[in-house]
Amino acid sequence: MDKIVVEGGNRLVGKIPISGAKNAALPLLAAALLPTGTSTYKNVPQLADVRTMAKLLRMLGWEVEGTKTLAITAPEGKNRKKLKLEAPYDLVKTMRASVLVLGPLVARYGRARVSLPGGCAIGARPIDQHLKGLQAMGAKVTLDHGYVEVECKRLKGATIMLDVPTVTGCENLLMAAALAKGRTVIENAAREPEVEELALVLNKMGAKIQGAGTAVITIEGVDELSPIEHSIIPDRIEAGTFAVAAAMTRGDVLLEGARAEHLDAVIAKLRAAGVTVAAEAGGVRVRGGGDINAVDIVTQPHPGFPTDMQAQFMVLACTARGQSVIKEMIFENRYMHVPELGRMGADIQISGRVAVVRGGSTLTGASVMATDLRASASLVIAGLVATGKTEVLRVYHLDRGYEAIEKKLKAVGAKIKRVKET
Ligand code: EPU
Repeated sequence: MDKIVVEGGNRLVGKIPISGAKNAALPLLAAALLPTGTSTYKNVPQLADVRTMAKLLRMLGWEVEGTKTLAITAPEGKNRKKLKLEAPYDLVKTMRASVLVLGPLVARYGRARVSLPGGCAIGARPIDQHLKGLQAMGAKVTLDHGYVEVECKRLKGATIMLDVPTVTGCENLLMAAALAKGRTVIENAAREPEVEELALVLNKMGAKIQGAGTAVITIEGVDELSPIEHSIIPDRIEAGTFAVAAAMTRGDVLLEGARAEHLDAVIAKLRAAGVTVAAEAGGVRVRGGGDINAVDIVTQPHPGFPTDMQAQFMVLACTARGQSVIKEMIFENRYMHVPELGRMGADIQISGRVAVVRGGSTLTGASVMATDLRASASLVIAGLVATGKTEVLRVYHLDRGYEAIEKKLKAVGAKIKRVKET
């Protein structure tokens, strides 16, 4: 298995191009199940998760061609016999976001069978809200040998109050409601930019969706949708990760293409830490200078501080002056990076959902690994400021969500390489 080897101590200076957003690309690929014909996405990030979603679409019978630009074609005419309405356990267990095919398949074909994802490294992560919404729209939901089977000839519009503003749950229901009969209202909806992006693309396809980006989304169902061409928004979490790396190394980096309006909570905390952040024409510029101040963080649904940036900020807090308190409120088990950071010399105490970070430790390079994507990213950026050599193992987690992370960091001055192991 590959590993990333980092030698700490270099400032990051220059430009880092930000790739298309993973968490926008995954629902957009699923949305290509809705229209007939060929939908084309540009700025598709080259990530393992995107390849997994493409593989799933092919298993369902769709043609998927290309890499950075992806053309997705529905099975019609003689290809119609390839249509398969099942997402198997083998794929769903490697990527939970596979569940995003449920809404579109039921809306368009009247049924779907998707393996239940089960728990994962960061928490239990049920899909009850996805299913509750589909049931409210008239679907019959049954559980069978680890699979959830959902059936409904034509979904009917409904008012759905989500218990939690789930991101992929909201996306599944948006896609389902786009082709339902009548009006659907999703209350307590997720407000993440990726939900807005999906609504924008569905509207381009001919859907009638209002309110995406707010807590109440209204969808007037239509009878059919048309294929579109669309370029995917930049990845706010990739941008945020590099912003923290730039700050910690006292660097000066332009995050090319990043959108400051997607990063409000992250930018506010960087500024509180004493980092200079400015929106510029080409993206967002981040400059670290003097000492880093301690910052307290509570993860929340958007527009609150994103859970996907918690691990990276914890590393920043390790290098800060004073004590930071971090509360992880989205996932119950998202502190896998803590023991590994401890092995690098960090002083972090966890009690339930709260982590207390005593800053000012000198991080020292070590062999480390994590079982989740953002935790792995935090270990790479810890390596950038640690003394000596850090080896981050199990790089496949990073490859799920960061396109060529080592190349991008190397180009701005980091001493970093990928070592291939057979
Ligand atoms: N939840 C339920 N019931 C549900 C759905 C969710 O109780 O039916 C709970 C979850 O257990 C969790 C909370 O609601 O405690 C929020 O989970 P959410 O459903 O919003 O997460 P998700 O849709 O599975 C997406 C991202 C995650 C990101 C979270 C939170 C994608 C493909 N994934 O997951 O991204 O952490 O939203 O913002 O969009 C990552 O990129 O590293 C990543 C994990």
